Amino acid sequence: MKPHVLVCGGAGYIGAHMCKRLARAGVVPVTFDSLVTGHRNAVQWGPLEIGDLLHPGDLSAVFARYPIQSVLHFAARSLVGESVREPALYLRNNVTGTLNLLDAMRSAGVGKLVFSSTAAVYGNPLYTPIDEAHPAQPINPYGLSKWLAEQQIRAYCEAYGLRAVCLRYFNAAGADADGETGEAHEPETHLIPNIIRAALTPSLGPVKLFGNDYPTPDGTCVRDYIHVEDLAEAHLLALDYMAGQPGFHVFNLGTGQGNSVAEVLAQCQALCAGAPASEVQPRRPGDPATLVASAALAQAALGWTPRHGLDGILRSALRWHQGSGATAATARSTADR
Ligand code: UFG
Repeated sequence: MKPHVLVCGGAGYIGAHMCKRLARAGVVPVTFDSLVTGHRNAVQWGPLEIGDLLHPGDLSAVFARYPIQSVLHFAARSLVGESVREPALYLRNNVTGTLNLLDAMRSAGVGKLVFSSTAAVYGNPLYTPIDEAHPAQPINPYGLSKWLAEQQIRAYCEAYGLRAVCLRYFNAAGADADGETGEAHEPETHLIPNIIRAALTPSLGPVKLFGNDYPTPDGTCVRDYIHVEDLAEAHLLALDYMAGQPGFHVFNLGTGQGNSVAEVLAQCQALCAGAPASEVQPRRPGDPATLVASAALAQAALGWTPRHGLDGILRSALRWHQGSGATAATARSTADR
């Protein structure tokens, strides 16, 4: 029988890429997703179980139905601005939801977990590139929720022998090389899809650049964009890593290369015949000036090396949006609800 891995949030952006990668590796990805923000038609590589992390009965039913060997946990609310307005939603979903998952894993005797964490746990960086020794000082409820979830996981590792890897992503971006899945958030708040949407649909108006007075070389924020396929690869390596390494582990996932908002825009414009136009807006609250990873630890421990740079990220994202997969995914998902 093929190995089975539970993918919580497998109908979401990163989770769906993960399912495709698992299937290619000969693993059955069992998606557990509420479809509140995920898309039914993103689940193409294994079974879909619709359920909610806040309903423990939904989880125990899935563990009873499939011979799950390990869990990848992507299911979370992930918008910083929304988390400031609705901290209860974030703490309940991301912290209590993770606790329910840990308890269900314990009851089912499943002992390996890879958790989607974020650079948001670091808050405003004290230095860059940011390594895992940097203090965790989240500045918004989203980052706090991920940090608290990590600490719960750590406690379960120490007390109950769980093995876990927390992967702190920097800026996830890009799409599947075959155009089968990609980013389809509604509303969309992220820079790269917003630029591409504005380039492909001029009626959306100019893309907004939030702040050009940051202490960076061109005044716009600098981020470390990491291809979603490179993220999926790191999760696969993390599963292997846990086979030989007990305990709790944390790794940053980024390229170590920072690009400013203005650079990303210029590179998109070069791919899109000069479009879109842009307009400078005031700073977006809560944006640190620079977030760049040191991923040396992931490279040394997991043997992970990102294969894609910004150009590959932008080209794959553009293909996905041109193929209208993004629009179709959003429309069908809205119809599902
Ligand atoms: N930006 C724009 N215009 C847009 C969208 C974004 O100028 O239309 C700017 C933002 O102000 C920021 C940069 O582009 O400077 C990147 O913004 P994104 O929204 O694409 O991504 P974030 O850097 O806000 O998000 C990342 C991770 C989150 C994490 C956060 C921590 O995706 O998981 O960093 O700050 F919480």
